[in-house]
Amino acid sequence: MELTPMMKQYLQIHEEVPDAILFFRLGDFYEMFFDDAITASKVLSLVLTGRACGLEEKAPMCGVPYHAASGYIAKLVKAGYKVAVCEQTEDAAEAKGLVRREIVQIISPGTMTDSAYLDEKENNFLLCAYESALYTCLSYIDISTAECKTILFSALSNQSDLLSEIEKIAPAEVVCNEVFYDKYHRHRLFTSRLNIKLSLLDDEYFDYDTAKAILKNQLGPVGDTFFSEDKTENAALIRANGAMLLYLKNMQKSALQYISAIERYSKTDAMHLDASTRYHLELIKSTRGSKKGSLLWVLDQCKTAMGARKLKSWIESPLNDRKAILERQGAVAALRDDLAALGEVRKMLQGIHDLQRVATIICSAACSPKNILMLKSSILRIGEIKECAVLSQSAYLQKIQNQIDDLADLYTLIDQAIDDEAPLAVKDGGVIKTGYHEQIDYLRKMAGSRQEVLSEMESEERESTGIKNLKIKYNKIFGYYIDVTNSYKDLVPAHYVRKQTLVNSERYYTEELKQLEIDILSAEESLLAKEKEIYEQVRTSITSQVERILSTAQAVAALDVLASFAQAAYDNRYHAPAIIEDGSITLVDSRHPVVELVETRNEFIPNSCRLDTDKRRMQIITGPNMAGKSTFIRQVALIVLMAQIGSFVPAAKAEISVVDRIFTRIGASDDISTGQSTFMVEMNEVSGILQNATKDSLIILDEMGRGTSTYDGLSIAWAVCEYIADKDLLGAKTLFATHYHELTDLAQTTDGVINLCIRALEQEEGVIFLRKIEEGIVDKSYGIEVAKLAALPDDVIERAYEILADLEEEHNKTQRGATTPPRPRAKTAQNENKSRLTPNQSAVLGALRTASIDSLSPLEALVFLDKLKKMLMEKEESK
Ligand SMILES: Nc1ncnc2c1ncn2[C@@H]1O[C@H](COP(=O)(O)OP(=O)(O)OP(=O)(O)O)[C@@H](O)[C@H]1O
Ligand SMILES: [Mg+2]
Repeated sequence: MELTPMMKQYLQIHEEVPDAILFFRLGDFYEMFFDDAITASKVLSLVLTGRACGLEEKAPMCGVPYHAASGYIAKLVKAGYKVAVCEQTEDAAEAKGLVRREIVQIISPGTMTDSAYLDEKENNFLLCAYESALYTCLSYIDISTAECKTILFSALSNQSDLLSEIEKIAPAEVVCNEVFYDKYHRHRLFTSRLNIKLSLLDDEYFDYDTAKAILKNQLGPVGDTFFSEDKTENAALIRANGAMLLYLKNMQKSALQYISAIERYSKTDAMHLDASTRYHLELIKSTRGSKKGSLLWVLDQCKTAMGARKLKSWIESPLNDRKAILERQGAVAALRDDLAALGEVRKMLQGIHDLQRVATIICSAACSPKNILMLKSSILRIGEIKECAVLSQSAYLQKIQNQIDDLADLYTLIDQAIDDEAPLAVKDGGVIKTGYHEQIDYLRKMAGSRQEVLSEMESEERESTGIKNLKIKYNKIFGYYIDVTNSYKDLVPAHYVRKQTLVNSERYYTEELKQLEIDILSAEESLLAKEKEIYEQVRTSITSQVERILSTAQAVAALDVLASFAQAAYDNRYHAPAIIEDGSITLVDSRHPVVELVETRNEFIPNSCRLDTDKRRMQIITGPNMAGKSTFIRQVALIVLMAQIGSFVPAAKAEISVVDRIFTRIGASDDISTGQSTFMVEMNEVSGILQNATKDSLIILDEMGRGTSTYDGLSIAWAVCEYIADKDLLGAKTLFATHYHELTDLAQTTDGVINLCIRALEQEEGVIFLRKIEEGIVDKSYGIEVAKLAALPDDVIERAYEILADLEEEHNKTQRGATTPPRPRAKTAQNENKSRLTPNQSAVLGALRTASIDSLSPLEALVFLDKLKKMLMEKEESK
């Protein structure tokens, strides 16, 4: 038995893309066969059938209609598969034997362009990583927005910097060379945090000469930056970027003309934030994984998707250059000071589509007339924005104004050529405006007059034959025909040729009708062909200007972010921070930007802060649990970060010296898959801080040293503090929240250390949190009080108090000369015999304790009593 010719063709084509699912075009369907069919039917919930393939057993098969393919493709790609689309590249009518078929596009997570399936506020990056003995180069691109960047790491630099950069890029797909693959394909960053499999590319992709030729070809003279002095460094850059372009080319099977530059940047261009700091400061996502509760959530008032993407990248890469910060700040101030203008600008921005994605779609064959109309309506708004007077109010706004191209020529072109009511698909016709092209007008008239000509012929025939209800009709199979009902059969003239007999009528044609049909259909056909041709011309004209559109898009996106900052500043009562240079940070009445918005039950209590490079370098913050220590230290870090992205800040007054980095050591997390326990992770982070921080850094430590025995933890914390505080060793500005009250002694012995605290009031009903930072020490944690608030069973609380009392007594003895650290005493028969309360009984007592009886009406009191009784009974019933 032998495979059918079609199946042979199928298998041959599949060999080109063994790792992809092949969408094989058969008529109006894309079919999948064999293993692909089995996989796809599961992922897409399609019915699995079979098709005779020449072998004994049928080939498993499933298929999707071609017009609905994009949704299915997106679903497969999102599930991590690659999809190769194979089209008929020859007209079936003209083919001799089997129709020719070719793969026209391969779609993978990193090369998806269908904006319907991409998150509009996120970039979709394809990353190519190349590692050699001396360098690792990352090259990444979002082909839906035409943004392409590259960064080089020396083999001597910290590996965590590289990994943290990749995590920041958050690519949808990673391709790499063998060295990189071997080193990282099992790394937790990829297997767990990013959840992507690395794809290994053949060595040929990274061949120096090929890569160089590809880059030269794609980038033209701009690419020369890659070919400068330092040979080894450039070799890595060339190989990584060339490989990425080659991979893309193989996937897209078409030229990517809109990629005309690759932006090279380095770690020092912006403030570097490591992954754990980004995570713990909840910059982009809250620790629960949602956007709500993050800094991005507070600041994102963007009106365009391009703006939202830019805002995200600004937050992740704060500026470290004072001048650049002031530039942005000046722009925010100008917008914030003129609320009317701000409102206008934001209204105009709202009318602008995602120009980056619109532009890249226009450059592709998938471009629909609707995309071109989106560009047109956006250009209208862009023109208005460029004219806005407020843009002359700051140097940075002026720069943006200059970068915005009003694209007037493109507007005129589209306005003249494309019909405002154009359909989604060019093949439906009616795309080119009447009056734009003479021949189209003529053909349209011909095709359009069909109805007139037909009714004219219809009445002529009625008259000449005397058949009163004669009709000329059309169907897809027979074309035009004359319909005569049986009652008039006798009147049918001899020159009518019968086409078909139905129950009640007969269908005829005449030579004249046949000719008319040919004329009409050919006019329609020629019209459509001409429309396509002219449409392509218009599209190409726009494509040739794509750089202007993309550069305008960048400017509009920046304006959108600045307007968003201005709006957030207004809504949340932020003020412009002064950017100073003496190394100090002063915040007056500052607030936590997120907590003040989400925690609406209680008013947020503002706090002030003064850090400097001298006496107030390191601040140890003590206070009860729940007092607000963690909130305060994060708030200081967030405010500094906000200032360095150009935003206003939640403080009545702020003076901030630019910091080179913000480090955090917060919370507990483990990394079991790489063999790291909670404490090991913590110590690694601390070690990273001590190695990388400088005197210009800001360090936030939250309960460092907690993950081990008390004495070990305290000793480490103490030693770390001494190291950081020492000006000769580090001397970084540091806020340290801790429950190790012993650390407060550092202030007496170590230069630059002071103590801050947040007090609580002890009252009969429990502790009251004051949330006010002040200088001094609090040596009580009220941990058990807080546990009580969390409704721990009463007897646990009681027992905890007992143990605490014991320990404190022991501790005092120890201080008086005992040698062993205090330990809780075992339960005694006496306290064991104490009546134990059930959780429900405790709950009833708790409810009684907190109830304010004075404010209850007699009726409410009864209801309350009833509720208490039910609480008790519930327990008994459920037993
Ligand atoms: N300044 C403030 N004004 C109002 N509410 C605040 C303020 N600071 C903190 N809070 C509230 O108190 C809660 C606890 O604060 P936080 O986590 O900072 O306490 P903590 O001192 O770090 O406690 P622990 O020692 O248990 O870690 C916050 O979730 C917030 O709701
Ligand atoms: Mg805390």
